[in-house]
Amino acid sequence: MKKILSIVGARPNFIKIAPIDKAFRKYRKEVEHKICHTGQHFDDRMSKVFFEDLKMPRPDFYLGIGGGSHAEQTARIMLELEKVLSEECPDLVIVPGDVNSTLAGALVASKMRIPIAHVEAGLRSFDKTMPEEINRIVTDVVSDYLFVSEHSGTHNLRSEGMDDDKIYFVGNVMIDTLEAHYDLIEASAVTKEMGLEQGKYILATFHRPSNVDNREDLEALMETLGSLAKERTLVFPVHPRTRKHILTNGLDKKLPKGVVLTDPLGYIEFLSLMRYAELVITDSGGIQEETTYLGVQCITVRKNTERPVTMDVGTNHLVGTDLEKVEKTAKDILGGTTKPGRIPELWDGKTAKRIAEIIMESFSKD
Ligand code: UD1
Ligand code: UDP
Repeated sequence: MKKILSIVGARPNFIKIAPIDKAFRKYRKEVEHKICHTGQHFDDRMSKVFFEDLKMPRPDFYLGIGGGSHAEQTARIMLELEKVLSEECPDLVIVPGDVNSTLAGALVASKMRIPIAHVEAGLRSFDKTMPEEINRIVTDVVSDYLFVSEHSGTHNLRSEGMDDDKIYFVGNVMIDTLEAHYDLIEASAVTKEMGLEQGKYILATFHRPSNVDNREDLEALMETLGSLAKERTLVFPVHPRTRKHILTNGLDKKLPKGVVLTDPLGYIEFLSLMRYAELVITDSGGIQEETTYLGVQCITVRKNTERPVTMDVGTNHLVGTDLEKVEKTAKDILGGTTKPGRIPELWDGKTAKRIAEIIMESFSKD
């Protein structure tokens, strides 16, 4: 019997690992799949709600790490994880995405000579001021299986000299989760409950340090959202990092009319709001992909994206951080100037199945 341990810690990780856990259930006589949750994200609305919404089993291990500086957080995860890996001796570790839990998992496993599969390998923003870019590069370097979600990933890995035998273009696990829950997402009553007219509101999320950690930038961003809220109701589920900065800077007292702030939402509710939105404005990685799949217009308030297929093929408008440009693009979209999009190759709901097949075939050769 083989053993696989997947390491997750932050909101997008839970969404990425759900279909992989499900795919390995088919092989449960041959392989045991366990989940270790580092506790990087710990609020119920950032963690537990996803295990419930996506019907995932409780994690087998919970490290309870919480927040901290990058070094503190990464180091604490590494110390605790080493104990789990020494005890469990898995045949493979799976790390999804690009968060500090991904990096910590990859570093510990590689030093223990445990093979590593990186899900969402090869994405590059080419911007090392983003903590995630460092996490992606280091994780890819030490991984044995590089599971790629879009062609840019293969190209980037090859140009960094990565061995072709390790690179597998398999598609996007986030889209597996979306496909699997699409009926629930469509049927959700969330728009009705919030009094929103379908197709006539804006959905916004922000959590990148470059947008929310600086008071002036965050205040200007809120003003831009306020200006757009004069045209359409704007719903803004607030990430804990952003909440902290809104509160410490007293911006909650200056909230423009029409901006509806909520707590972070569960997966089904949030995806339903996305599905029926006229426009999404975000700095999230995953949301750029989900809007492309759903054909919903998306404005990304960042200077770059590690997911270029959402721009080249999908409905993503990468506008930079000039807020006048954000406002103009948003008003153009609300006025009907939209961008047509297609669903990228292999974003078909079967990515986790492909990943499991590749891993099982490789196990069969041991
Ligand atoms: C992390 C990831 C980022 C990812 C995002 C997804 C890193 C470096 N960053 O950013 O790539 O896009 O998750 O959402 O790994 N907090 C709470 N409750 C929670 C979670 C966080 O209060 O449930 C607080 C933390 O204590 C900390 C702050 O929010 O003060 C930031 O959390 P952290 O996990 O360090 O980074 P994120 O900004 O969430
Ligand atoms: N998401 C959610 N509820 C929210 C905000 C986001 O379920 O209130 C989902 C979103 O649809 C996507 C994932 O969380 O599936 C993205 O997480 P986030 O934006 O925090 O991280 P990133 O993708 O930028 O790393």
